[in-house]
Amino acid sequence: MSERIASAEFRSKVMSAEEAAQFVNNGDTVGMSGFTGAAYPKALPTAIANRAKEAHSKGDEYAINLLTGASTAPDCDGVLAEADAINYRMPYQSDPEMRNKINAGAMKYQDIHLSHSGLQVEQGFFGHLDVAIVEVCRITEDGHLVPSSGVGNNVEYLESAHKIIIEVNSWQSLELEGMADIYRVPHLPNRTPIPINNVNDRIGETFIRIDTNKVVAVVETDSPDRNSPFKPFDETSKQIAGNFLDFLEGEVRAGRLTYDGYIMQSGVGNVPNAVMAGLLDSKFENIKAYTEVVQDGMLDLIDAGKMTQASATSFALSPEYAEKMNREASTYRKSLVLRPLQISNSPEVIRRMGLIASNGMIEADIYGNVNSTHVAGTRIMNGIGGSGDFTRNAFVSSFISPSVAKGDAISAVVPFASHIDHTEHDAMVVITEYGYADLRGLAPRERAPKMISIAHPDYRPLLEEYFERAQQNKHQHTPHNLRDALSFHINLDETGSMKGNA
Ligand code: COA
Repeated sequence: MSERIASAEFRSKVMSAEEAAQFVNNGDTVGMSGFTGAAYPKALPTAIANRAKEAHSKGDEYAINLLTGASTAPDCDGVLAEADAINYRMPYQSDPEMRNKINAGAMKYQDIHLSHSGLQVEQGFFGHLDVAIVEVCRITEDGHLVPSSGVGNNVEYLESAHKIIIEVNSWQSLELEGMADIYRVPHLPNRTPIPINNVNDRIGETFIRIDTNKVVAVVETDSPDRNSPFKPFDETSKQIAGNFLDFLEGEVRAGRLTYDGYIMQSGVGNVPNAVMAGLLDSKFENIKAYTEVVQDGMLDLIDAGKMTQASATSFALSPEYAEKMNREASTYRKSLVLRPLQISNSPEVIRRMGLIASNGMIEADIYGNVNSTHVAGTRIMNGIGGSGDFTRNAFVSSFISPSVAKGDAISAVVPFASHIDHTEHDAMVVITEYGYADLRGLAPRERAPKMISIAHPDYRPLLEEYFERAQQNKHQHTPHNLRDALSFHINLDETGSMKGNA
C-alpha cells in the first residue's frame, strides 16, 4: 500500500474503484475535484460509467448530477458522457463528447461563473451533495488532504458532501505539498474581507481539513493528468501577441502601467497561451499573475526569470509541461500558489489587484458585447469559466481572438453578438491579428469603426454596410437594423459561411 496514506484510519478504507463506485447511486449529486484537465479523479469516473452502462443494459436508470471545479478530461467527463451517466452538469466543461450530448439535448448543463459555484453549493442551490470524490497527492497522519495539481471547489465539496471518496494519485509529485494555500471564506452572513493584498500572500494552510467520519473509501491510482497539447504558434497567434504587447506598451505610455508592475490574468486556450510567449521578448519584468490556471506559457516566463509570482487554482499544462512540473515542482513551488476557486477568482481580490485581464472569445459585436460560449447563439462551446469573474473586476479587460474561424467561414466581429457573456459595459479592449480596438471612453457609435478596423478584411465591407444601414434607423444611441442584426449567423446556418452567397 502506498506510503502516501499516512493515516491508519484511512488505510483500512482502501479498496478498488469498482468497490468505491458502489457508494455512488442513481440520482446522486456528486462533487468531483478536477480543473482544466488537472486533479480530477482518474479511476472513479470509469467505474461509475461502467455501473451506468450495466444498469442501462438491464433497462434500469442510472445517472448522476456532476459538479466539478471546471473541465476535466476524456477519462472523466468523456467516459461519463459516453455512458449517458450524467443527468445535470455544472459549472464548466470542454469535452467534445460531452459538448455533443449537451448540444443534442441529451444532457443538462448549467454554465456558471466559477467564483459563484462553490458558494452556491454551500448555500444548497443544487440540493444536498451526496458524495465528494477528490483526488489528492497524499493523506497526512491526521487525515488532512494534500491537494494535487488543482484545488477548485474541493473545500466546498468535501465540507458539503455526506460521503467522501478519496483518490490518492502517486503520479502527482509529492513536491506539490506546500503549493496550496487553503483558506475558507466564512459562510454568509459572517463574511469578512479576504486578507490578500499581494499575489503571493499566503493566508491559509497547505492541506484541507475534513470530517474523517465521512470518508467511505480510499482508492489508489497512478495516472497522469490529461490535458491536450496547445496548438503550435502560427503567424496569426504571433501577430495577436504582438498587438497585445502594443496595447500594453500604450498603457505604459499613458502612465497606467510600468514595466515592472504588470499583474496579468490569462484565460484558457491556445490564443492566451500564445500571448504569454510574446511576453518573453518584451520589456516587461517581474510579471505577476493573479489568474485561474497556470499554463505552459507561464512556466516559460518563470523559467526565463520574467514572471516572479503566480496565484491560480489549478494547472492547465500540456502533457510535456505537466511532466516538467512533476520533475521541478520543488522549484516552481517558490513562485506558485494554488488557491480555492472562491479565492483565485474572488471579485474582491481581483479588483484589489488592479490586474489586466485577457481572455479568448467566440465573437464580439461592433459595439463591444462579447460572446465567449455559444457558436451561433445556440451551440455551447465550453462555458464562461472565470472570464466573467475577471472581466467584470479587472482594471483593464481585454479579449483576444483570431479575426476568423473555420477557414474564413466565421468572422469574430459580427453586427450583433448572438449570445452575450460580457456586455459592452465590461469589455474594454478587443484584439485580433489586425490590431486592437480600444473601446474605453467611447460611445457605442464611436466604437463600431474601431471594431470594424480589426475585423478580417473580407468581412470589413459587410460590417461597414451593416453599420451604414443601422444608422438609417431613427434610434441612434446603439444603432441596429433588427431585421439584419443576426444576418451573419443566419448566413452561416443556411450557407456554411457568414459571408452568405455574396
Ligand atoms: N465560431 C465557431 N467556432 C469557433 C469560433 C466561432 N466564432 N471561434 C473559435 N472557434 C473554435 C475554433 O475554430 C477552435 O476549434 P477547433 O478546436 O475545432 O479548431 C476552437 O473554437 C478554439 O479556438 P482557438 O482559436 O484555438 O482559441 P482558444 O483555444 O483560445 O479558445 C475559446 C477560444 C473562446 C473557445 C476559449 O477561450 C473559451 O472557451 N473561452 C471561454 C472560457 C474562458 O474564457 N475562460 C477563461 C477563464 S480564466
